[in-house]
Amino acid sequence: MLIALCVLCCGALWADNINIIPRPASVETLPGTFAFNTATTIAYKGEGAKEAAQMLCEKIRTSKGFAPRKGKALAKGSVSFINDKNVKGAEAYTLEVTEEKVVARASTAAGLYYAMQSLVQLFPSAIENRHATMMVGNWLLPCVRIKDEPRFGYRGVMLDPCRHFFPASVIKREIERLAAYKINRLHWHLTDDQGWRIEIKKYPRLTEIGSRRVNEDGTVEEGYYTQEEIRDVVAFAKKHHVEIVPELEIPGHELAAISAYPELSCKQQPTSVRRIWGVEDIVMCPGRERMFGFLNDVIDEMVQLFPGTYYHIGGDESPRTEWAACDSCKQRMKEQGYDKEAQLQSYIIGRVSKHLAEKGKRVIGWDEILEGGNLDTTAVVMSWRGEDGGIAAAKAGHPVLMTSAGHGFYFDYYQSDQVLEPTAFGAYFPIDRVYNYDPIPAALRGTGREHLVMGVQANCWSEYMHTTQILEYRLWPRALALAETAWTALDRKDYNDFVRRLDGDGTERLALLGYNYHMPLPEQPGGSCNKLAFVDSTSVMLKALRDLKIIYTTDGTNPTLQNGEVYTAPIKLNRTTVLKTATVLPSGIISPVRTINAVKTEYSAPRLSADAPTAPGLLMKKFDGRFAAPADLEGRTPVFADSLLKDLDGLRSLTELSRNLRDVKNYAAIAEGYIEIPETGIYEFSTLNAALWLDRSLLIDNSSDHYQRHTHENAQIALQKGRHAIKVCFIGGIFDGWPNYWHETKVEYRTPGGEWKKVTPEMLSH
Ligand code: ACM
Ligand code: ZN
Repeated sequence: MLIALCVLCCGALWADNINIIPRPASVETLPGTFAFNTATTIAYKGEGAKEAAQMLCEKIRTSKGFAPRKGKALAKGSVSFINDKNVKGAEAYTLEVTEEKVVARASTAAGLYYAMQSLVQLFPSAIENRHATMMVGNWLLPCVRIKDEPRFGYRGVMLDPCRHFFPASVIKREIERLAAYKINRLHWHLTDDQGWRIEIKKYPRLTEIGSRRVNEDGTVEEGYYTQEEIRDVVAFAKKHHVEIVPELEIPGHELAAISAYPELSCKQQPTSVRRIWGVEDIVMCPGRERMFGFLNDVIDEMVQLFPGTYYHIGGDESPRTEWAACDSCKQRMKEQGYDKEAQLQSYIIGRVSKHLAEKGKRVIGWDEILEGGNLDTTAVVMSWRGEDGGIAAAKAGHPVLMTSAGHGFYFDYYQSDQVLEPTAFGAYFPIDRVYNYDPIPAALRGTGREHLVMGVQANCWSEYMHTTQILEYRLWPRALALAETAWTALDRKDYNDFVRRLDGDGTERLALLGYNYHMPLPEQPGGSCNKLAFVDSTSVMLKALRDLKIIYTTDGTNPTLQNGEVYTAPIKLNRTTVLKTATVLPSGIISPVRTINAVKTEYSAPRLSADAPTAPGLLMKKFDGRFAAPADLEGRTPVFADSLLKDLDGLRSLTELSRNLRDVKNYAAIAEGYIEIPETGIYEFSTLNAALWLDRSLLIDNSSDHYQRHTHENAQIALQKGRHAIKVCFIGGIFDGWPNYWHETKVEYRTPGGEWKKVTPEMLSH
């Protein structure tokens, strides 16, 4: 009975008007409200208290046009920040709001900062407004008693400015908001094959050459952080209690450095900054002392910039083929008594770790640093290839960080229907996967090794984040789920309550601050399509993630709260319609509009009679060169025509592809003929080729897409049974790091909502 009562009252203690993300360890609501107004004073006492108080004042000044006066600690009508040694825990705090006053206590500056961030979230979201409106009346804060501390000490996000560069101002902007949700580590991935981003004074070519990538189409991706900028970012992060973990990748993912200093590699041949994504086989040579001298020099400059304890040294995806063929590497193996190249990997990690240890630093590496054995147990292992690396590392006594790609922590993956998002890396990881993950893997629970899990991190690899807008779209709001997974005790997590806070107050704040966060759009169950075809009538079924409210119009206007119909059942259409639809958050914020064109049509008749003689396959023409769109091919003379193409996937195989696609001779190809349609019906087509025509009309055009890696242009058509004209255009090239030769040039089809099928050679004729 007693237990039942307690459960009941604990549930009731979390009130609907408490919106703090991440959810605190303990929240007790009290009756009444505290009235914050121009008479409210702010007081502070002890280390770190003034800084927290000033940040709150600054927020009030920006949103309400006045700075609260300094008052006496604990006075009536005051907000007090007090350094109190009785509050145990490096990041713990208490926060008490009564009708009389507000008191935040912690024994550290970090704790006071977190108390301030929680308090900001007790204010109305308007405190985030950056265009001051003068304060009149009161802001009412709910009375509450909060005791809070984190579950994990390491709560991280990784940003990758190597594939696409983000200026220091963007790094600071993301740090500021991440810190508001109590994320306390920014893993800054500063070196990679596609760009070296940190100024090293002793090696100027690293930035002169290594920070500049010339893409195949002639565009340039460049940029680096000067040491001055880095000091500024580090100081800014420190103010927000974020430690920067810099990453210097070794021994792989270093082609940008090798292009500046080829002597770092086994073959020592001139090369250039890698312009495609993926894994590079030219890596650093562990046979050469000069290479270690270089790494030591770089680290010696880095330790002047990054005062934090942890240094990330990469270790992932480093092929060993060059080592196997290198005399210096063979010599090193002989001298060390090694019989496997993998031991060279641990040799490098060991030597660099030792140099860092001499500087008082500890290393973090991707889970491959376990390979080759002999890893010092102080090394922290970052488990990214699932959980196995983390489990093995903890069993061997290493601290571990969980950042599994397969569990939702690669924020370069899709978070909703991919047809409706800018191209991402590929897999689908919506926010609930991030939220519902427990960073302590099941295999470690009850083993006495749980304490070795230091925390959790999400990674924003930037191959598919070519603008700051897209970076933010992928990071927000998934970072809020990450924050709660990292901070909040398991028994305090509750996805439904998180959604309430996220879709209400949480997104209101992101919107007021101008962050480009992802809002789910209305999706069609079974896969979205923006180009529908129907003969008599059709119905469009919609659903949004988190069951958000959906509105729509059918008159071509953008839906608003006033003119939009609220979606309650599949939308019946019996004429050609432009269907515009959007989701609505509980706050009233409307998502971007999704436009679906639904065309009423007739079943298109076959273009060739059933008894006309044909031969298998399509006829193909090839054009040499690098083209952007099918229109570029008009009027050009092909290098050959009327070549037989049996299988559509053969479209991409007309050039020699070296492993790294250096000097690839690009081409475009057009294949034409007939496709056999098995039954009269509505068909949806999909392809990654530049364009697809059916019965001479352009059905799919991917050519304006930045990457053309996943199509957003699936389209439906009504076809009678029989042979219809088909034309496919493939345009080969490297589209911002993605070579089109890497994906299948197939065409797929399905009946709406059904399973996708590949167009087979048997269906093609000419
Ligand atoms: C990684 O994603 N290669 C760590
Ligand atoms: Zn070598």
